[in-house]
Amino acid sequence: MNDAKEEIKSRLSIEDVVGRYVELKRAGRNLKGRSPWGVDKTPSFMVSPEKGIWHDFSANKGGDIFTFIMEIEGIGFKDAMEKLATEAGVDLSKYRGGDANVTKRKVRAKEALDLATRFYQACLARDKKVCEYVFYKRNLNRNTVKEFKIGYSPASGKALYDALKKRGFSDQELKDAGLLNQYGKDMFRDRMMIPFIDTTGNIIGFTARIVGQGEPKYLNTQDTILFNKSRFIFGLHNAKEAIRRSGYVVIVEGNMDVISSHQAGVKEAVATSGTAMTEQQLKALANLTSDIRLAYDGDAAGIKATERAIMIAGDLGIDLTVISDYHGAKDPDELIQKDPALWQQAVEERVPAVDWLLNKYEENLNLRLAPDKKKYSDVALKLLGYIKDEVERATYEEKVAKKLGIEVEILREKGKRLDDKLKEANEHKFLKKPKTTVIPNHIQKLEDSLLALKLFGGVTKTKIPLEVPEDETRISELELIFTANHENVKEPNYEREAADLMARYNAEVRTARIKELNEKLASLDDSSDEYLRVLQEITDLQKS
Ligand code: UTP
Ligand code: MN
Repeated sequence: MNDAKEEIKSRLSIEDVVGRYVELKRAGRNLKGRSPWGVDKTPSFMVSPEKGIWHDFSANKGGDIFTFIMEIEGIGFKDAMEKLATEAGVDLSKYRGGDANVTKRKVRAKEALDLATRFYQACLARDKKVCEYVFYKRNLNRNTVKEFKIGYSPASGKALYDALKKRGFSDQELKDAGLLNQYGKDMFRDRMMIPFIDTTGNIIGFTARIVGQGEPKYLNTQDTILFNKSRFIFGLHNAKEAIRRSGYVVIVEGNMDVISSHQAGVKEAVATSGTAMTEQQLKALANLTSDIRLAYDGDAAGIKATERAIMIAGDLGIDLTVISDYHGAKDPDELIQKDPALWQQAVEERVPAVDWLLNKYEENLNLRLAPDKKKYSDVALKLLGYIKDEVERATYEEKVAKKLGIEVEILREKGKRLDDKLKEANEHKFLKKPKTTVIPNHIQKLEDSLLALKLFGGVTKTKIPLEVPEDETRISELELIFTANHENVKEPNYEREAADLMARYNAEVRTARIKELNEKLASLDDSSDEYLRVLQEITDLQKS
């Protein structure tokens, strides 16, 4: 993969690649232009043909031709690579030797998930009680059930396992698919099964709802070689045609809201399955349309989610609105059960997300009281800080000032003061950072190997308490690490490897911590309480 990257880089010049999107002028050894993301008045975008890199000082990002194409097209590393390889006339398949194993495993996992879906569909048809739930309680019609490939997982706990075993699937393959639990039995039992379908139509996982009451209400496939929850958008496969046609997308909270909405004729609905919206998800949607309508609950979580969307929307140039009138229903699904027409109407009646939030902030305050005015201006200014366009921001500043009955100048002054304070705090953090966060190289390496195993090795028995990254480049990097680590291993045993690495990792972290504490000890007064506390911690660590 790295060889392919180098080959492409050697054939394409960065001026040509970037020059198609940004007008570049020579400035000494470098080239300069206007940021394709910002509204900068002076050229703040730089390209170094010698180094083959670019940097955007207004948007504060940079990299090589690959990251440029990823950023500007809003696509992942693999897609950027393919695009540039075509341009450069590089045949990627020649370089793919190392990935062949992962590719093969992905194919098998897809086959397993495909069969699982059909198995679940057959089980639904056979079970009266669950049919009753799906067709009458949830009011889904035959067409919808077929379109979303809804099924039912039997209660036995190994029905699917036995069926797939008979079809020649190995435990590892079923694990790759995310179909096994930690005991090596069926992950999903006695639940209504809703497949996760990617935009090319592949089934890559499931969300499974309990039939009736119970906990947990939903069980979802964890991240696997196929499924990445921070990138996946539920319903997009079924919605993309409608989104293109109507020119807007509706983001709802629940997967069932998506399904109901489609049945009610609003086929532009998608959801971010059980996670807060990520930058990748919003970017992917912004590539399809700039009219993005949020249909979240009006509760605290809905407010947080809307704020988050505004934060990450920053430079994307999208028109973010909120659908808020549910006529007293708790979510779109409930509204649709009342009357589908009400939902169709709700989707048309929307307010700009910022206006919606500014009204929400007012709900528990009395804006005639000075302390409440302060509170209101605090949250409002924080929100307005995320608005990039000067005209839009100025308009909102005036609106807020009017609400508070004060001069807009005073509000702007406060805004500036909060801004400076924030900057200062960040600089402070930055200065303090290196001392505490330097991770020794070998620990970093172990973390990489462990994360690679977690993501691509389908490891479930050994708990790996490291967070899976959301960053595309980083995930590709981990895939590379995984491939490289196992290139010459004949019969890999990922679980054992993970257990060994975890043991080493824990030991390394402990050693590093002891070293850090010892250094701290040297700087402390040996009669202080702190000294004794640190000493105690060292002794405890040495014992464990
Ligand atoms: P809700 O609790 O609002 O569920 O969770 P819902 O969509 O209205 O579901 P129904 O109508 O009761 O069937 C919203 C979303 O949060 C995630 C799911 O993606 C759900 O669609 N969630 C919720 C989970 O992942 N796990 C849970 O246990 C609950
Ligand atoms: Mn619901």
